[in-house]
Amino acid sequence: MSECVVRIEKVIDEAYDTKTFVFEWDAEARPGQFVMVWIPGVDEIPMSLSGIGDRCKSITVKAVGEATKALHRLSAGDRLRIRGPYGNGFDLSSPGEKLIIGGGVGTAAVMPAIAATGADAIIAARTDKDIILDDLAGRFSRNLRIATDDGSRGFHGNAVQLMREMASVKHYDCVLACGPEVMLYFTYKACQELRIGCQLSLERYMKCGAGVCGCCVIDDMRVCKDGPVFD
Ligand SMILES: Cc1cc2nc3c(=O)[nH]c(=O)nc-3n(C[C@H](O)[C@H](O)[C@H](O)COP(=O)(O)OP(=O)(O)OC[C@H]3O[C@@H](n4cnc5c(N)ncnc54)[C@H](O)[C@@H]3O)c2cc1C
Ligand code: FES
Repeated sequence: MSECVVRIEKVIDEAYDTKTFVFEWDAEARPGQFVMVWIPGVDEIPMSLSGIGDRCKSITVKAVGEATKALHRLSAGDRLRIRGPYGNGFDLSSPGEKLIIGGGVGTAAVMPAIAATGADAIIAARTDKDIILDDLAGRFSRNLRIATDDGSRGFHGNAVQLMREMASVKHYDCVLACGPEVMLYFTYKACQELRIGCQLSLERYMKCGAGVCGCCVIDDMRVCKDGPVFD
């Protein structure tokens, strides 16, 4: 784990409100881990690593508020202060068939797990224009399916409805997912009912990111340190 200033190598437009920032950073990181990104004069915010190459890493940022909009104003050559990586990440060691689900910008957090496993995957969003990272995921996943709530692309319905359809024709041992909390809740319910294991990456407001301040606690668990991935 380290704190350092990194240079942005490349900025990729993923959607009208989402950009990927690729930066040189040779730290070791596992799929599902995150970094704390400091935006001077604004805030320090958690961001999942959407790419974990040996030399370069990336974050994929949806502009929703002050800090993320400030990040969107940065371009190649600008610098970022980051610390991490933090969190436990996904456990990819168990054998058996995996199905990986990314909902909305949560797709960023599962991207390294798709790249590492080549597993079947679902990328879901409200509409076609909200789908991100599908080109990249398609290069790794053996079977990538797209779902949109309005049917503008791929399966007409939500990620959990598509997961149920896929699980009815193929046996899965474990579902790995990140996305809106309501999606994770119904993924959990479906996995319980279908007796499939699951690992879900949760989000909470974070300050230290390292298990010290207590602001991300759910019951007796710190999302930053004991998570963000929970089974
Ligand atoms: C472990 C972890 C990993 C994360 N990974 C990513 C990631 O890979 N990419 C990414 O874009 N974000 C990610 N987030 C969420 C991100 O940290 C927040 O979106 C960010 O802190 C918002 O800061 P802000 O100052 O821009 O917005 P704020 O001013 O804090 O919020 C502005 C408004 O947007 C709403 N809002 C905040 N977050 C979200 C959200 N995620 N979706 C929709 N509305 C929201 C708030 O309720 C508020 O109304 C992650 C969060 C955690 C805890
Ligand atoms: S953010 Fe401080 S304990 Fe989790």
